[in-house]
Amino acid sequence: MGLFHRSGGYSVFIPEIDAEHRATFKLVDELAAALNSRARGARGKAIESLLALLQDHFAHEERLMRESGYDAFEWHKGQHDAARRKVKRFARRIEEGDRKAGVEMIEYLASWLQSHVSVSDRMMAAYLRNFERRRAA
Ligand SMILES: [Fe+2]
Ligand SMILES: [Fe+2]
Repeated sequence: MGLFHRSGGYSVFIPEIDAEHRATFKLVDELAAALNSRARGARGKAIESLLALLQDHFAHEERLMRESGYDAFEWHKGQHDAARRKVKRFARRIEEGDRKAGVEMIEYLASWLQSHVSVSDRMMAAYLRNFERRRAA
């Protein structure tokens, strides 16, 4: 059992976004497992993949919000930016050999993702679905 409940409770009902969220949750779980292993390579790889995935995912959401004229764009991007800064700082500490940084990053991300996805991303997705519906009509 991972850090996230898999009951579909995090669905925002946009398939590509949901797939990216699932991939992110999976990588956080994998990183949590890698932190417990002695293999340094596995840890570095998991951190790298997670950072890359987060950057791509945030950029994807920000593009969709910008293209659709979402009025809470700045607020939502501000949350992404705060997470970007935090995660970069954790990654640096991990690189420098700080033993607590990995666990702290997992705890931070698990809680940040759960609240961000279930509130901010859901608000965004509801808007995007309406936007698409209006455009298709
Ligand atoms: Fe988001
Ligand atoms: Fe998201």
